[in-house]
Amino acid sequence: MSRSGRRHQVGLAPRLLLALLIVLATAAVTAWVVGALVGPRLFHQHMVEAGLDDNDAAVLHAEEAFRSATSTAATLAFAAAALASAGVSVVLARRIAASLGAVSTAAAALGAGTYGVRVPSSGLGAEFDQLAGSFNAMADRLEDAQRLRERLLADLAHEVRTPIATIAGYLEAVEDGVRPMDDTTVAVLRDQADRLTRLSHDLSAVTHAEAGDVVLDLELAPPEQLVQAAVQAAAERAADAGVELRAHVDPGVPAVSVDRHRMAQVLDNLVTNALRHTPPGGSVSVLAGRQGGAVTFTVSDTGDGIAAEHLPHVFERFYRADVARDRDSGGSGIGLAISKALTEAHGGTILASSPGPGRGADFVVRLPAAS
Ligand SMILES: Nc1ncnc2c1ncn2[C@@H]1O[C@H](COP(=O)(O)OP(=O)(O)OP(=O)(O)O)[C@@H](O)[C@H]1O
Ligand SMILES: [Mg+2]
Repeated sequence: MSRSGRRHQVGLAPRLLLALLIVLATAAVTAWVVGALVGPRLFHQHMVEAGLDDNDAAVLHAEEAFRSATSTAATLAFAAAALASAGVSVVLARRIAASLGAVSTAAAALGAGTYGVRVPSSGLGAEFDQLAGSFNAMADRLEDAQRLRERLLADLAHEVRTPIATIAGYLEAVEDGVRPMDDTTVAVLRDQADRLTRLSHDLSAVTHAEAGDVVLDLELAPPEQLVQAAVQAAAERAADAGVELRAHVDPGVPAVSVDRHRMAQVLDNLVTNALRHTPPGGSVSVLAGRQGGAVTFTVSDTGDGIAAEHLPHVFERFYRADVARDRDSGGSGIGLAISKALTEAHGGTILASSPGPGRGADFVVRLPAAS
């Protein structure tokens, strides 16, 4: 074992005691020098100045008494201080060791995968409380990340299960001669394969966007153009769905600095959702306006609406308010997570609101106006 390795093994109590003993030894040497060399001379001088004879027996006796009192007092003081130092070192060392021990035990548990472990406050002062606080904050984040990972994997497994089961079932039926490899079979197989392909693209997009590694090709864009592009892209789908699609841009809305493709993707996700959740006869509006130093893009619909308990979650990956219906309609619950990550990559925010089920929903993207 190296020298430094050995040195690390010396406990806290002996180190503290050694430090206190050095202080004590310094005090003792100083007291001895003063008591043995300086004190008697000063005492003798005072006796002589008081008019007593140098060799007077009373003077000699008084000087002897001074020396003896000084050394007894110094010895007693040193012994008491040494005892107190030992006591203080043991108590302090135990408390510090208990507190550090709690952190190192918790760190070991965390390393072994027990994410619920936390360190209590030691009461040893601000530095130790800060250490415990930082450790607990780190444990919180690790626990959140772990929970998210578990949920993501479970969701992912769930998402791929249905298309894979369908593909496997159809192939088996074809092999057994129960089903012909006709246009209908091919269409089902293609549809399920497309669903898996879309899922993998969406997952890759959201992972990149959330990790912050999307490269934005920023350019100045008038909101008018972005709104018109979004409406044109969805016009045919809206007509097929029997939903009226409107566009409106407030006068004087400033330009925004955006990656046009990414912003088109954000608005298209919102318009696609709105169309999917608006029954025939309803309407979907895409609006642009100004709010202080920001430009807002609002996609409103008169459709299904979103219940208050679902609103805070709709931007989470794989979240669907009406799981069965939303899945049947082909959604995997990633669109809004992508939209949120892309909006934030532009320095913006995205919010959802709804007066309640059956009363429509509003999604507002807020971007800083280009200066
Ligand atoms: N305009 C809307 N009206 C009502 N509910 C909505 C609306 N937009 C989104 N939602 C709800 O929020 C959920 C999440 O939306 P998101 O776009 O992330 O997923 P999706 O549309 O189901 O699937 P994907 O976009 O991945 O194809 C939807 O499943 C739906 O329940
Ligand atoms: Mg969607």
